[in-house]
Amino acid sequence: MKLSIVAALLSAHAVVPAAAGFIPQQNSQASSVRGSVMLRGAAPAVQNEDLDKIVADSPLLSLHRTISEIESISNDESKVGEALVKYLEEHGYTAEKQVVPVEEDANSTAERFNVWAYPNGNPQPKVILTSHIDTVPPHIPYTLHAPEGEFDRANVRIMGRGTVDAKASVAAQITAALNYREANPDAAIGLLFVVGEEVGGTGMVHFSDSDLNTTPPFFRTLIFGEPTELKLVDGHKGNVRFTVEAKGLAAHSGYPWLGHSAVSEILPVLSRIDELGDIPVEEGGLPASEKYGRTTLNIGTIKGGAAGNIVPVSASASVTVRLAAGTVEEAQETIKRAVSDVSGGSQNITVTFPNDKAYPPTDLDVDAEGFEVMTVNYGTDIPKLTIHNEGTDIQVKKYLYGPGSIFVAHGVDEGLTIGDLEEAVEGYGRLIEAGIKRS
Ligand SMILES: *[C@@H]1O[C@H](CO)[C@@H](O)[C@H](O)[C@H]1NC(C)=O
Ligand SMILES: *[C@@H]1O[C@H](CO)[C@@H](O)[C@H](O)[C@H]1NC(C)=O
Ligand SMILES: [Zn+2]
Repeated sequence: MKLSIVAALLSAHAVVPAAAGFIPQQNSQASSVRGSVMLRGAAPAVQNEDLDKIVADSPLLSLHRTISEIESISNDESKVGEALVKYLEEHGYTAEKQVVPVEEDANSTAERFNVWAYPNGNPQPKVILTSHIDTVPPHIPYTLHAPEGEFDRANVRIMGRGTVDAKASVAAQITAALNYREANPDAAIGLLFVVGEEVGGTGMVHFSDSDLNTTPPFFRTLIFGEPTELKLVDGHKGNVRFTVEAKGLAAHSGYPWLGHSAVSEILPVLSRIDELGDIPVEEGGLPASEKYGRTTLNIGTIKGGAAGNIVPVSASASVTVRLAAGTVEEAQETIKRAVSDVSGGSQNITVTFPNDKAYPPTDLDVDAEGFEVMTVNYGTDIPKLTIHNEGTDIQVKKYLYGPGSIFVAHGVDEGLTIGDLEEAVEGYGRLIEAGIKRS
């Protein structure tokens, strides 16, 4: 802790009435100087320069700041990728750019890439830490906030887009890997930072389909970084998306029998879909499981019709299913059957499942010592990485762990504390240790 911080800390105490009484002896002079200023009222207890200095003095916090300040909304990740390549190359790593095509519907045409990095001369590490470098929009600038009340460095809050999801994981993973290798220079720890996680996982699919993902796998432990509140995640639900469309025949609303309402046709279908998670499998519902609870469905959009006085010619809805058990194919069959049952097999109704993006419930490893365990309701890149261990006895363990909470991850108040970020470095260190020991 640097002197200016000590002074800031003491001045924070000094705004408390003297009766609160805690001023360490050895610093009483500094505190009385700053304290008298404080008691006259105006200046904030902790100055921005003090907070900046805390960040500047820490390699972890500085790296986190650098990558959080670079805007990297999905499809526009190349600047942050360049920053990571530079940092890793300065720290004994070979960093390769794995070019990933931009999405067809994206604004940007700039080249973007996953960053695959390994210790110099060791291209097939046994342990890989991985997270994503894209964020959701809009970009929110990086800011630092002193805690209310008594100053405590660990409670300084870092806010801004990506500071949690997932640049906190990225910075903590890199720092943990470098720390571990400082003490164990031969430790083979790889780092994979992918693009496009927030918009369907293109980056991870690209890695998975590439030559880097060997058959059989060279790696034995994968440590995924996402906001998990510093707990190990034992798995997450699957995800299946679909759209339902109904076709009708337009007519004047005064003579509806001359047409056919697409809205009238889709309504019973949607109300059946809405309850599929709540009815037993034997009655045509989607399965629950002890681990993940019920399958839930969200009818996220409904569109239809053109005007109040026209019988609607079309209607559609898009649905996301969070699958608690079974396979993607089984869920798709259940959904098609439910739609067909309720519509009497009407040719006017179609259900479409997009080609990619669906995945079944994903189980993860939790055998590392010293972590709390939880289940999450959000999806990750993990199912997008196919592990080619068919026909071998190779076991690849997968852990999911990271600082910060998913509850703020995509919101305007995205942020986490210095304490959480620093604790994540310890946590990743323990997971690396577990991985190195079994490799
Ligand atoms: C594309 O860019 C334009 C102009 O910069 C912006 O208004 C629009 O929202 C962007 N669209 C997407 C899909 O990002
Ligand atoms: C399908 O739509 C046509 C008109 O477009 C209508 O005549 C027919 O009755 C509809 N089928 C069902 C099952 O509602
Ligand atoms: Zn994320």
